[in-house]
Amino acid sequence: MPEFGVRVLVLALLCVQPARSSSCPPGCECSEAAQTVKCVSKELRSVPAGIPAYTRNLFITGNRISRIGPESFRGLDNVTTLSLSNNRISEVESHTFSSLRSLRSLDLSSNQLALIHPEAFTVQSRMLKELNLSRALYNHSAVTDLATSFRWSGLEGLHGLDLSSNGLVYLPPQIFFHLGNLRRLQLANNSIVSIYNETFSGLGQLEELDLSLNALKTFREEGLMELEHLPGAKLHLRQNPYTCTCGIEPFAIWLNASRERVVDAERLVCVYPVELSNTSLLIAGEMVLGCHRAGDGDNLALQTSYVFLGIVLGFVGLMFLFVLYLNRKGIKKRIYDMRDACREVWEGYHYRYEIDSDPRLSQVSTSADV
Ligand SMILES: *[C@@H]1O[C@H](CO)[C@@H](O)[C@H](O)[C@H]1NC(C)=O
Ligand SMILES: *[C@@H]1O[C@H](CO)[C@@H](O)[C@H](O)[C@H]1NC(C)=O
Ligand SMILES: *[C@@H]1O[C@H](CO)[C@@H](O)[C@H](O)[C@H]1NC(C)=O
Ligand SMILES: *[C@@H]1O[C@H](CO)[C@@H](O)[C@H](O)[C@H]1NC(C)=O
Ligand SMILES: *[C@@H]1O[C@H](CO)[C@@H](O)[C@H](O)[C@H]1NC(C)=O
Ligand SMILES: *[C@@H]1O[C@H](CO)[C@@H](O)[C@H](O)[C@H]1NC(C)=O
Ligand SMILES: *[C@@H]1O[C@H](CO)[C@@H](O)[C@H](O)[C@H]1NC(C)=O
Repeated sequence: MPEFGVRVLVLALLCVQPARSSSCPPGCECSEAAQTVKCVSKELRSVPAGIPAYTRNLFITGNRISRIGPESFRGLDNVTTLSLSNNRISEVESHTFSSLRSLRSLDLSSNQLALIHPEAFTVQSRMLKELNLSRALYNHSAVTDLATSFRWSGLEGLHGLDLSSNGLVYLPPQIFFHLGNLRRLQLANNSIVSIYNETFSGLGQLEELDLSLNALKTFREEGLMELEHLPGAKLHLRQNPYTCTCGIEPFAIWLNASRERVVDAERLVCVYPVELSNTSLLIAGEMVLGCHRAGDGDNLALQTSYVFLGIVLGFVGLMFLFVLYLNRKGIKKRIYDMRDACREVWEGYHYRYEIDSDPRLSQVSTSADV
């Protein structure tokens, strides 16, 4: 009897052991030696079941998976690298990756994410270091969900985030605030129009920021302040439609002073106006300098107030003339009256003077005195 039991046990082991090590889901290639599983371009509609537990590198790419959730990746404690690139994924549920407690790198590039739940990127161990969301968003609207998931997914350990080629038009304020350890941020090939106050707040550790191939016409003061708050970050800023009118001046001055940080400073060129197109921004900056130097604004205000004063005085003068015109008859009369009065006074005076100065009369008076 004990012998039979041992034999059953051995048989069971023989059956289970090879079955476990050789098991590989249909449509996938499994390599135990490389601890790698690849399920590439097999029209899979969901994450296949039965992925071996030894897997460290898991590639499920080029399939037709539309949603992923917590049940998709159970029992895969050792997966460190997961690529789900190019799958038409539109929905990521909260805690989808929670059970992947060794996950360090997650690639969701080239998908159509429209619905991203708040804790979509939560990984129990907070080990996640790299997140690739290049060409991953269905449209710009998904950025709101994305910002919420960055807030609630516990991504304090993230070092690299790729958000390139997503058609992003603007970035919600503080979107990266909870990614305090981020070192590299790719935002290239979007449609970002302007950098606002608090766009990059919380990114004090950033070492590299790529904003090339966007729709930036200039950086205004608040945008420059944001870049100033990333003291350690190398910046990529080329291939934006920089518009070299007076508004570019603060940016041009900043650029000249920040050549060390802006790795492509020499290659930034004006796109508008046409006569300056392809002119280096550093050179154009010197040409448009003086558009509105500090102090010019004050002078302008002063000039404006002088002009205003002139207009007011002119108006008062006109009113005065108008009143004179309306009263012209009365005034004429009064002038005549005054003239007559003057004449009378004058004549009276003259008469008296003539009497006073009559020598005979004075003689008479003197002789009378004597
Ligand atoms: C997972 O990795 C650990 C250590 O790296 C190893 O001991 C364990 O056997 C692995 N798990 C499987 C199922 O291979
Ligand atoms: C993200 O994925 C895209 C496309 O798969 C790739 O070109 C890019 O290099 C990846 N980004 C990073 C930072 O590895
Ligand atoms: C993005 O797609 C969603 C879902 O189709 C749609 O409701 C929304 O209007 C789109 N947003 C933009 C900016 O196109
Ligand atoms: C920019 O993004 C679009 C899609 O948003 C893509 O088709 C194009 O290839 C990207 N260009 C570069 C240079 O990455
Ligand atoms: C940016 O926002 C902060 C906090 O909301 C505020 O204190 C600061 O004045 C703002 N700066 C600009 C330039 O708007
Ligand atoms: C801009 O200048 C570069 C070289 O300085 C040249 O290769 C390029 O063709 C020019 N582009 C346009 C649109 O003139
Ligand atoms: C550019 O910076 C240099 C020093 O780095 C300075 O001498 C020069 O005046 C600056 N030019 C402009 C236009 O600010």
